[in-house]
Amino acid sequence: MTTARTGDDTVDYAVEGGIAWVAFNRPEKRNCMSPALNRRMLQVLDALEFDDAVGVLVLTGEGTAWSAGMDLHEYFRENEAKGLGAIRRAQAEAYGWWRRLRWYQKPTIAMVNGWCFGGGYAPLFACDLAFAADEAQFGLSEINWGILPGGGATKVATTLLGMRRAMYHALTGETIDGRTAAAWGLVNEAVPLASLRARVTDVANVLLQKNPVALKATKDAVRRVMEMAYDNAEDYLVRAQEAANAFDTQGRKEALRQFLDDKAYKPGLGAYDRTRKDD
Ligand code: COA
Repeated sequence: MTTARTGDDTVDYAVEGGIAWVAFNRPEKRNCMSPALNRRMLQVLDALEFDDAVGVLVLTGEGTAWSAGMDLHEYFRENEAKGLGAIRRAQAEAYGWWRRLRWYQKPTIAMVNGWCFGGGYAPLFACDLAFAADEAQFGLSEINWGILPGGGATKVATTLLGMRRAMYHALTGETIDGRTAAAWGLVNEAVPLASLRARVTDVANVLLQKNPVALKATKDAVRRVMEMAYDNAEDYLVRAQEAANAFDTQGRKEALRQFLDDKAYKPGLGAYDRTRKDD
């Protein structure tokens, strides 16, 4: 296991068994996102993205919060006092790492251990999968301090919740717990906090068994086709598979051989053995 903390320590990470555990690390501020944290997070994501020791990235939070959203003092008040240039720079830093995470090379999992507010919905959506503690609390709190849910939060809510739930969630600012978040589709699943890390580890280990070229092609395909008409999506998927074939010439052939010739596994029930390369 390797552990690294550098710079301002606003982000913590460790790589263990193919899984990069990345944590918002401002527990005393409920992991709200300051400009320093946003800059540091981009550096950490950058360092891990093409590290061969990393197959899956998990994003979690130290302490009682996942993330309490944007830092109301350092991100909003201080930058507004400085002027438009500072505001735009801080936005670019935040939106930059969220965008990087949305299209990350490796599959990503949000492990929501506690509070998740406002701007936190952007990295939540950026992660491919999301698992929450039953005890976690989610809210679009912006309305409670007099702004609209920006930084993508409204887009995330309408995309994942549908219009009626998104509207109620955004207009009332009421929180929902992890179980409700799962029932509404904001996260995949909720489990007791005590079981959260074990459940996420199990899911990450399932992903680690899969062909990494196929994983990246698949996660991008899911996000891309959401915004395409059917015929465009059909065409995109043909091209995407053909592009993936160029980067992984043998994987699917070996998988077919293990099923059709060796009868060594059943694709309907699990992944082929990537350690074998007989053809
Ligand atoms: N921005 C700036 N500071 C924040 C913050 C945020 N989004 N969230 C928490 N903090 C700070 C608090 O000001 C406090 O600082 P202090 O110790 O210097 O006084 C510290 O973090 C602890 O917060 P506290 O409110 O005492 O913790 P709590 O566990 O009782 O409550 C929350 C947790 C998340 C419910 C509460 O902190 C909160 O409502 N935060 C704001 C959520 C929000 O609206 N985010 C913006 C979305 S864009």
